Amino acid sequence: MVPPHTWSSCMKQHPARMAEAERAAQEIMSSLNAYRSGLFKEIPTGLVLGTGWGDALVLHRSLEIPFHRILGFETLGELEGHRRVLEVGFIDEACETPVAVLRGRVHMNEDPRDPAVPKMVRLQIAMLCQLGVRKLVLTCAAGSLTETFAVGDLAFMQSFVMPGGHEEMPLWAGEFVSPEDVLALEWRDVAGQAAERAGLVLHPEGNHAYVRGPHFEGRRHDKGNLRKLGADTVGMSVKPECCVAALYGARVMGVAFITNDAVAEHSHEDNVARAKAASAKLGAFLEQVVRTLP
Ligand code: HPA
Repeated sequence: MVPPHTWSSCMKQHPARMAEAERAAQEIMSSLNAYRSGLFKEIPTGLVLGTGWGDALVLHRSLEIPFHRILGFETLGELEGHRRVLEVGFIDEACETPVAVLRGRVHMNEDPRDPAVPKMVRLQIAMLCQLGVRKLVLTCAAGSLTETFAVGDLAFMQSFVMPGGHEEMPLWAGEFVSPEDVLALEWRDVAGQAAERAGLVLHPEGNHAYVRGPHFEGRRHDKGNLRKLGADTVGMSVKPECCVAALYGARVMGVAFITNDAVAEHSHEDNVARAKAASAKLGAFLEQVVRTLP
C-alpha cells in the first residue's frame, strides 16, 4: 500500500490530532487502493463543497466514502444541505486530474458543548492534507454585507475580519497559525476567469467575517457592525479550515456564494435552495478552477 503523503513543511502539531489524521488517511487509502490501482499516486487538489454547493460538481470514475465510515467521524449526525461524503475521482473524463471532494462539511457550531466537534472539523481537512492535498478550494454560502456584493454573486476571499471577542478554532496548545496567510491571492485571476466562463460575477476582494453561529446575525445592528469592521461577507465556515490548512502549509482558495443580503429575512433552507438553483454554474466554475489552478 502507498502510504499517505508525508509533509516536509508541517508545523509542529498536537501529536494526538496529527495521529488521528494519519490513521483516517491510512484507512481511506486502504479503501481507495483497489479502486485506484494505477490510476493516481497522489491527490494534490481538494475541494470542500459547502451549503448548497454539494451537488455542484460531477466527478468521473469516483468512489464515495460517507464520513461516518471514516475513523473519527462515527458520532457525526445529519445536517440539512450537507451530504457529508468524501468522494475521490477525476475532474475530467480522461482521468488525468484526480481530486478529493468533501460533499458537505462539519461546522464548529454543530454541538458547541461536544469536544468531538472541533476534532471532526479539524480531521476533515487534516485527512485531506494527509492524502496529499496541497491546493484546497473551500466553498461556502455567505450573507452579503454591502450593496455591491449581490445575491447570486461569488466572493473571492482575500482576508478575514474578526467580529470581536474570542473565536474558537480547531487548534490545540502551541499551534500558532495565521489562517489568513494561507489564502492564495495569486489564484485570484484563475477564479475570476473561471467565474466569467461560468456566467457568474466574482468579487475579487472579499473580506470575510467568520461567525460561529448557528444563529444568524441580527439584520438591524449586527450585520451593520460587521460591515463597519470592513467585512463584505459573513458565513459560518472557512476560517477554521484555513487554520488546519496552515498547519500543513496547504494553499487555499476561499469562495463564498452569496445567498442573502443584509436586509431581507432569510433562513438556512432559503440559502440552501438559492445555492442549489445555481448548481450548474457553480459546477462549471469549480471544474474550470481545478483545471487551471497552477
Ligand atoms: N450569516 C451567516 N452565515 C450565512 C449567512 C448569513 O447571513 N448566509 C449564509 N450563511
